[in-house]
Amino acid sequence: MEPQPAVQTLNLTRLYGDMVALNNLSLTVHKADLFGFIGSNGAGKTTTLRILATFLAPSGGTAQIMGHDVVRDADAVRHIIGYMPDFFGVYKDMEVTEYLDFFGACYKIPSAQRDKVVQDVLELVGLTDKKGALIGALSRGMQQRLGLARVLIHDPAVLLLDEPASGLDPRARIEVMAILQELQRLGKTIIISSHILSELETLCNRVAIIEKGQLIYTGPVQGVRDQMASGRVVWVRVSSDLDHAIALLKQHTEVSAVDATDGRLKVTLVNHDTDHSLVADVLVKGGARLVELREDELGLEEVFLRVTKGETQ
Ligand SMILES: Nc1ncnc2c1ncn2[C@@H]1O[C@H](COP(=O)(O)OP(=O)(O)O)[C@@H](O)[C@H]1O
Ligand SMILES: [Mg+2]
Repeated sequence: MEPQPAVQTLNLTRLYGDMVALNNLSLTVHKADLFGFIGSNGAGKTTTLRILATFLAPSGGTAQIMGHDVVRDADAVRHIIGYMPDFFGVYKDMEVTEYLDFFGACYKIPSAQRDKVVQDVLELVGLTDKKGALIGALSRGMQQRLGLARVLIHDPAVLLLDEPASGLDPRARIEVMAILQELQRLGKTIIISSHILSELETLCNRVAIIEKGQLIYTGPVQGVRDQMASGRVVWVRVSSDLDHAIALLKQHTEVSAVDATDGRLKVTLVNHDTDHSLVADVLVKGGARLVELREDELGLEEVFLRVTKGETQ
């Protein structure tokens, strides 16, 4: 029997006015996945996570968490998930235990059990010795771990974490990552977003990469590298003989594949950092008449490079 997915979206779409922020996104996250959700700034990560967290209505498509629809069964979903937004206000003048106790009460955990629950989550995130500290006095990394403790208070099966490592120094980031690995061992399903692929590469078993609201890749982390290694794609159109152009391109060692579709040629280069002007050179020098040349619509390689290096637009 197929395992039931923990999180599944089908053609999820979200418009802001007439701007398409999410465009038919279909994703599957399995139980106990530590799933990396990667995309440069503005790609649609926060929009997706807010829809999954029932804070934002989709304009189209559906999403389910543990079989519950995020729109129709929003209440059920809220009990299953722990959502950590990309930015959350900190209650600087509150003590650590007070803060967690407050959220425990929000989730209607009986006061007799609340102490124990608070101790447990504090231990899990390594903040036991900060129990009585004021939140404002904690380091950024500790505040982030406290944020994790907060979303764990009702023992949710699925965690939705929006860029939890962003802005942390390397050491604090490693501490957060170690907690996430521990949570995965405890059987939690975790979706963590980032605009940096390398940040999640060693942590996650599966990833999805989105750009401009569209899915570019989903699968095992290694597949990203394989896809990148397959080289950049350039589309060309010639007004001269198509077969002649194909023959010219195929002769070149930098070209790995040439496919003709709708009178256009899809040229795949061996190396993803080969300059695409090479294609123009080969064609023009061979006597073909080039009328159009452009990179793959979504700039797949550009996206990969950007998220690999953690660059933002
Ligand atoms: N409340 C909003 N109103 C209008 N546009 C928005 C709103 N929230 C996000 N956007 C736009 O939607 C796109 C996706 O944004 P977002 O989901 O925040 O991406 P990410 O989290 O990947 O940076 C961006 O172009 C952003 O400017
Ligand atoms: Mg965001």
